[in-house]
Amino acid sequence: MKLLLLCLGLTLVCAHHEDNHDVVTSNFDMSKISGEWYSILLNSNVKEIIEEQGIMRMFVESVQALDNSSLSLKYHKKINGECAELTFICDETEEEGVYSVSYDGYNKIHIVEADYNDYVIFYFLNYQNGEITQGMDLYGRVFSC
Ligand SMILES: *[C@@H]1O[C@H](CO)[C@@H](O)[C@H](O)[C@H]1NC(C)=O
Repeated sequence: MKLLLLCLGLTLVCAHHEDNHDVVTSNFDMSKISGEWYSILLNSNVKEIIEEQGIMRMFVESVQALDNSSLSLKYHKKINGECAELTFICDETEEEGVYSVSYDGYNKIHIVEADYNDYVIFYFLNYQNGEITQGMDLYGRVFSC
């Protein structure tokens, strides 16, 4: 009987969790995007930048909304064969959900979609020497249920 109740309890917790999936595509609550993430997918129209030695090949560790509305993004990146930590402070732009940061040129980062408990999708544009490169990042939360 105890076991049955435990099973029922766990089922309810999981069912509740699944009901709780709200996909957000605007008016992002940055405090809910804050926290630990891991990279699931990275893509770009310019393959070289995401290949082994590519400038954009990096793996997310965390996202933190700062008090002044800037966003701190922490990544791991292999540089000269060693794992380095990179932190970017991205400033808010006039567009909602769009941040900017200098790195290998100028970058605009758009938050496209999020389900705060599960995933977030970023779309970025890199502007350098009159060229625009696009990319997409999919981050996931550590699953709990
Ligand atoms: C916000 O604070 C961070 C950390 O102190 C700083 O690096 C960044 O430049 C600030 N952003 C703005 C827009 O002032």
